[in-house]
Amino acid sequence: MEKEKGVFMRKELSEGPQAVLKTLHETREEVKAAADLLRSLAGAGVERGFVIGSGTSFHASLYLQYLLNRLTDFHATAVPASEFAEWGPTRHTKYFIIGYSQSGESSDIVEAFKVAKAAGVKTIAITNTPGSTLTRISDAYIVTRAGEEKAVAATKTFDVQLTAALMLAYELSGKQLGELERAAEAAENVLRVDSEIRSLAERYIKAEHAFSLGKDSAYPIALEAALKLKEAAMVHAEGFAAREFLHGPVQLVDETTPILAFAPSVEAFKGSLKAFEKIAQYKAPLILVGPGASQFAGYATFRVEITRVEGSASAIPLVKFAQLFAYHLSVLKGLDPDKPTKLTKVVKY
Ligand code: AGP
Repeated sequence: MEKEKGVFMRKELSEGPQAVLKTLHETREEVKAAADLLRSLAGAGVERGFVIGSGTSFHASLYLQYLLNRLTDFHATAVPASEFAEWGPTRHTKYFIIGYSQSGESSDIVEAFKVAKAAGVKTIAITNTPGSTLTRISDAYIVTRAGEEKAVAATKTFDVQLTAALMLAYELSGKQLGELERAAEAAENVLRVDSEIRSLAERYIKAEHAFSLGKDSAYPIALEAALKLKEAAMVHAEGFAAREFLHGPVQLVDETTPILAFAPSVEAFKGSLKAFEKIAQYKAPLILVGPGASQFAGYATFRVEITRVEGSASAIPLVKFAQLFAYHLSVLKGLDPDKPTKLTKVVKY
């Protein structure tokens, strides 16, 4: 009998909120050890570093970059793992590396860690795979608790990558972790409107191109939404910072290009209004996703209200919408998001 399409992606994305809570409750010591390493480096004058990863893990890197720069005294730059050897400093080794890899085995990040290690640079790995190569060659690691992920499209493991980023940034800045529990609940609420998200996906079954926009902490979510649409649903999708869309890409929109716009707050929606006006002018369908989305009904074809969560933790429910939307679109198109035909779960050379 033929396997039902997308069973793993569906199951795994639904497990995300529980995985967030499990990671929150079980990794505090690892997060503290990673923070202690960073603090000791700061004591030696090393307060700058790089966050690296590939694909979805690069999007998690962008999110951690945002949090470290905004909430802590550390300054981080996110770089794709595959570019690190060429982009890393050549004149000094006074920096740290934090690397994201679900598998802990992707060749690009393993190579980048080896380059850093050879130069004497301290490394911290954030991975979902205990005992993986990355854990063995790093100076400290956080192993997120999503459990095995089988679908090629990463979902619950991205949720816990965001969780680890928040835990580390909060540990370094002394903020409370309560937001994470609320974020997990808000993501559960997104799962409860599954049938509405499916109906929404039905409307765009013929779309060949799509865009996703994000502001503030939702910018990496816009990039991740576009990646999910590409790999799972075979839609050519590109993600942008909301106002960046005005600097060229808006030229491509028309009635056939759905645009997903993610915002973590009403203020972030307000900061995106100029882009929304342009999109409305060219009659492209605009789907607003975030807390307070309904306040901007005049600009949008569809609104998805997300339960309000303080601060940047709303990235967790926002991406849940993107994962579910891409899953439904994929299955409605007769594709199998568990096994996109040209992809493997781990990219090794
Ligand atoms: C995620 O949906 C992708 N399949 C892919 O981008 C993945 O995140 C990337 O290859 C990195 O894998 P890693 O996290 O195991 O290093």
